[in-house]
Amino acid sequence: MWCTLIPLVLLPTPILGQLSHQNNNPVIDLGYAVYEGLHNATSGINSWYGLRYAQAPVGELRWQAPVDIEAKNNYSASRTMDASQPGPSCVQGYPAWFPPPPGRNSRYTIGSSQPGASAGNVPFQTSGPGNALVYQSRGNLIYVTIQYRLGAYGFLGGSDVLVNGASNAGLLDQRAALMWVQRHISKFGGDPSKVTIIGGSAGGGSVVNQLMLYGGALNPPFRAAIAEYPWMQQYRNASALGRQYDLLRQASGCNDLRCLRLLPDTKLRSATKETITTAYRNGDYGFGDFFFGPYVDGSVIRDLPSNEFKLGHFAKVPLLTSREGYEGVAFVNRSRLTDEERARDLSRVFSNAKQAFFSRLFQLYPRADYNSTLTRFAAAVGDAVIVCPSSTISAALSDYGQPVWKMIFDAGSQTHGALQPFVETVNVGDSNNATPASIMRNYYISFATFLNPNSVKFTSVGHPIWPVYQTPDIAGFRALSVTHTTVEPSDDPDVRPQCDFFHSQSYVVRN
Ligand SMILES: *[C@@H]1O[C@H](CO)[C@@H](O)[C@H](O)[C@H]1NC(C)=O
Ligand SMILES: *[C@@H]1O[C@H](CO)[C@@H](O)[C@H](O)[C@H]1NC(C)=O
Ligand SMILES: *[C@@H]1O[C@H](CO)[C@@H](O)[C@H](O)[C@H]1NC(C)=O
Ligand SMILES: *[C@@H]1O[C@H](CO)[C@@H](O)[C@H](O)[C@H]1NC(C)=O
Ligand SMILES: *[C@@H]1O[C@H](CO)[C@@H](O)[C@H](O)[C@H]1NC(C)=O
Repeated sequence: MWCTLIPLVLLPTPILGQLSHQNNNPVIDLGYAVYEGLHNATSGINSWYGLRYAQAPVGELRWQAPVDIEAKNNYSASRTMDASQPGPSCVQGYPAWFPPPPGRNSRYTIGSSQPGASAGNVPFQTSGPGNALVYQSRGNLIYVTIQYRLGAYGFLGGSDVLVNGASNAGLLDQRAALMWVQRHISKFGGDPSKVTIIGGSAGGGSVVNQLMLYGGALNPPFRAAIAEYPWMQQYRNASALGRQYDLLRQASGCNDLRCLRLLPDTKLRSATKETITTAYRNGDYGFGDFFFGPYVDGSVIRDLPSNEFKLGHFAKVPLLTSREGYEGVAFVNRSRLTDEERARDLSRVFSNAKQAFFSRLFQLYPRADYNSTLTRFAAAVGDAVIVCPSSTISAALSDYGQPVWKMIFDAGSQTHGALQPFVETVNVGDSNNATPASIMRNYYISFATFLNPNSVKFTSVGHPIWPVYQTPDIAGFRALSVTHTTVEPSDDPDVRPQCDFFHSQSYVVRN
């Protein structure tokens, strides 16, 4: 689930676009293509699904930077295309330890929702991504979801790719989609100068990567960022990337990138799967790691996130970030019974670590402090990969003059991704959750429209001021703490020795 989540875009829309209607369904002319979307009379939301922003990344375009869709297509101005149904989703990049959930399959699509005229002010629960936010914003937001290449398709590295292809292609896809938004969102009534990027989990990590892209570009195609439970797995080094590439070559019977590009999709899919399985068996990656992911290439991603954030090499924009109560639980093997087994798993996740790293880690997570071996190791993994990075980026952006708000979300399932249904899909079901959900969405909408979660009220429910992360003359770091029964300001509980340790060892954790 967290693997398909991606930066999403929120846009304040002071003016509704010029839309022609057929059968109540909205038709949009993008200049190079005409799409008929879907009007939902119940919610008043217009949606367009499956819009391509780039050429299909197949054949010669595999492991290349995405090519804009406008450059080459067979669309015709006289033919209106159907955009009323979600398109297929990208080939997923699930690791061997991860049971893939049943779901839609597809590639390269962009969908956007636009509020219609009938939106009221009752919190409204809808099923499409973003619809709940669009609805509650009362016509002030457009929500765009994007897809990008995942797994080996988006994050194959190694010297052959560096020389003959594009590194971190998946991140380039995200940037290309954001540039498509810059070119076209005004036709939907959006303001391209007011884009907020948002994503959870790998999407939260993607938001962090977009901040760091090209060493922190001066004019990024967004003005604010929401990095939810940012998941920062190890950025593999050159030899580990070379090994991934070699495994893929072996599994596919190919010698070089040229051959890999010519493989039929079914062959590449099965070779990728075999690579992921073999590598897990060989111990090339551990439980909790997705194996293929963003890496340092010296240009798209210039250095490890910890270094880039220390040096101010990131886009300087306001930030909203969060982490859940028990982040690590989803990334450790529940069936392990002993600390010894778990320590072995951990040494695969932190594959660059030597003894001193583990000696200190076990000291900082003493057995006696935890009620089971599971909670002990889950705490360490969650801290290293999600919890501590959420504080590092908060401090860095705030040190460079940006307002930052951090949330500790300890409601819902309290585990990785627990926040998501409260803000995005909202099918939380019982009325107890409707109240915090409405408050969460209100903070998001206010942040996307006024760059501050406390500026405007898009809910009738009372809620506290969410304090900024750092304030001159005030000791410590502030956060918003959400539990099953409360929403209140708190100190950031993640400024502590365990996080100082992971930060000081970031060249070992490699994030
Ligand atoms: C446009 O090209 C795609 C594949 O590139 C093909 O599936 C589709 O049928 C073509 N459409 C038209 C109208 O030619
Ligand atoms: C999880 O742990 C159990 C028990 O030790 C083991 O049999 C199983 O192979 C592990 N699963 C994975 C995916 O590593
Ligand atoms: C329209 O919106 C309502 C309310 O969110 C939802 O229940 C329904 O499934 C939507 N209809 C379609 C066709 O998407
Ligand atoms: C690269 O990472 C691997 C583990 O992923 C590690 O075994 C190796 O020592 C590292 N190489 C260097 C040069 O750091
Ligand atoms: C163990 O600790 C976790 C996390 O603090 C808690 O959720 C769980 O209920 C505890 N389990 C037991 C058996 O006490």
